[in-house]
Amino acid sequence: MKKYYITTPIYYVNATPHIGHAYTTLASDSVKRFRRMLGEDAVLTTGTDEHGQKVEQSAQKAGWTPQEFTDSVSAAFRREWDELGVDYDHFRRTTDPLHAQAVHEIFLRCKEAGYIYKASYSGKYSVTDEMFITDEEAAALDPDKVIEVTEENYFFKLSAFGDKLLELYRSQPDFVQPEARRNEVIAFVEQGLKDLSISRSSLKWGIPLPDDPAHVFYVWFDALTTYMSAIGYGETGERRQLWEKLWPADVHMIGKEIVRFHAVYWPAFLMAAGLPLPKKIYAHGWLVFQGDKMSKSKGNIVRARPIAKVVGVEGLRYYLLREIVFGQDGNFSWEALVERYNSDLANGLGNLFSRTLTMLNKYRDGVAPEPPAGDDSGLPEKGSATIAAVTAHFEKFEFSRGLEALWSLLSAVDKYIVTQQPWKLANAQDADSQARLSATLYNAAEALRLAAVLAYPILPDSTPKIWKALGQSDDLATYPLRELAWGGLAAGGRTLEPEPLYPRLDVEKSVKEMQALEEEALKEQAATMGKPAEESKPALVVDTPEIQIDDFFKVDMRVGLVLEARQHPNADKLLHLTIDIGEAQPRSICAGVAGVYDPAKLVGRKVAIVANLKPRKMRGIESQGMIIAASGDDHHPYLVSFLEDAPIGARLG
Ligand code: MSP
Repeated sequence: MKKYYITTPIYYVNATPHIGHAYTTLASDSVKRFRRMLGEDAVLTTGTDEHGQKVEQSAQKAGWTPQEFTDSVSAAFRREWDELGVDYDHFRRTTDPLHAQAVHEIFLRCKEAGYIYKASYSGKYSVTDEMFITDEEAAALDPDKVIEVTEENYFFKLSAFGDKLLELYRSQPDFVQPEARRNEVIAFVEQGLKDLSISRSSLKWGIPLPDDPAHVFYVWFDALTTYMSAIGYGETGERRQLWEKLWPADVHMIGKEIVRFHAVYWPAFLMAAGLPLPKKIYAHGWLVFQGDKMSKSKGNIVRARPIAKVVGVEGLRYYLLREIVFGQDGNFSWEALVERYNSDLANGLGNLFSRTLTMLNKYRDGVAPEPPAGDDSGLPEKGSATIAAVTAHFEKFEFSRGLEALWSLLSAVDKYIVTQQPWKLANAQDADSQARLSATLYNAAEALRLAAVLAYPILPDSTPKIWKALGQSDDLATYPLRELAWGGLAAGGRTLEPEPLYPRLDVEKSVKEMQALEEEALKEQAATMGKPAEESKPALVVDTPEIQIDDFFKVDMRVGLVLEARQHPNADKLLHLTIDIGEAQPRSICAGVAGVYDPAKLVGRKVAIVANLKPRKMRGIESQGMIIAASGDDHHPYLVSFLEDAPIGARLG
């Protein structure tokens, strides 16, 4: 079986997962599922990038060791992908000792080939980007984020690879995609390449060099090697064989800001080490939110899980890949997300599904009819063209165009149903009407069957339900896409009752729900990164049973004047009070306020008491009522008093 190896970037642990990370990962997951349907052994790896100064600093701020810090954030990424249903095969952490072995192996190969040397280096270093930067770049940054570094470093002779790289881009025009990124990379290399410092002696939190452990690897040499270490490079035995089988990668899926590292440095490292180069680097665009690339430092972050809780993971997957043109920047909008879900999933695919299956049950007892003879609907032709178009678009990572083509088939089927008026045909008993009804139902069901297969890579949870409802029993995940053709629905197969797939959502309400969940996610993020979120008190819930006003008036509360107050002789917590409520005799009342209220200060105060409570003895003294006090979580009693001088005996209510 042909293999297909796809990677996502390994994500920095200086931020918890957000929708930008999910974008690349979900797209890569879709590619993996698509390639599997093409009959390939598709393998997806992802992971976390855990070394560097920034991580050390963040850990310190949180009062954690760097390892504790990265353990926490790395686990959050893994959890994120698990909860979003990402079908990844390997998750590589740069702090894994097996990864260090791989970095050593590639480094030593580069060194033996003469591409590594040691020299003094001094320059401005961006703490944020973890790289040396030019003076102009430094001027544009926050001065706190730039440090001057002079040290002995190991260098990689990148300058030796300019021509080889240009030859690579020329001979393999699709090595870097899309075209705009390719041009950018070529222009950069044509300017001439400087050697690259690949180690730091000023840092501790990194992989030590094999032959000079006072130095640790500079982040990119370390990070890029995960693409190989994830599948066994640096190891022996079966794992090594896995690397031999899967390497080189078929595609490194990345965001456009890291194209230079992937399309210039990485192939140069591999060339130096004498290892095969990845076949393709695909750099997609940015998710823009509130006018800027979403990023933690700008604070314009949206997270994936709150969205998935409201529109489902599929609502999110569909939106990201349909609404935003892969390869270009795209604006994220909550409203557009829900509107897209409603129009294409609830009203589009979902509605066609429920309509068609309902009619099949109603008019044909849940049995797939014969395909029509001499069909002039145009649907078989459109169906075949759609299969070709969607496949070709997905192969080129043109998800939105592929989905657009598929939905154009669905809307053609919708129109076709409307013109055929199956509900009328069902009432006419003549053979011609019945044949047309069968044809209508067959075509609609067949289009749905195609849609289930073609949309599976993007909608992997719901399409198997459509598939099953159409009476298909084989595993949709491994359906041989190359064999998909119009007319494959077998007559006589049993179809099922439709189940609701994509319930329609209220836009405003859903947006509010997502935004509220986002607030919670923010607290979760703070906890993951070692900064406990500010304790916010949960809203009070009053859950005592409702009463009628009559019930309330059963309690007779009166204003009373404290005549005497002393400590209860037999109970530390009680005071014994004498209270005048205007009756012939003052009342004797015990109250649990000792230690909080000084008895002497209570004398002369007006209080509220329950006057019709059955008297009871409290530690030997009869209590003929109860003083009203509020008590909160602190268990401190707060006596009720009056704003004005209330008359003795006045009733409360
Ligand atoms: N650790 C490096 C990558 C090393 S790969 C050997 C890194 N990590 S990162 O956490 O910053 O992740 C960057 C990647 O996350 C981007 O390349 C992109 O794939 C994805 N995205 C992060 N924010 C994004 C957007 N706002 N929009 C689109 N993709 C985004 O760089």
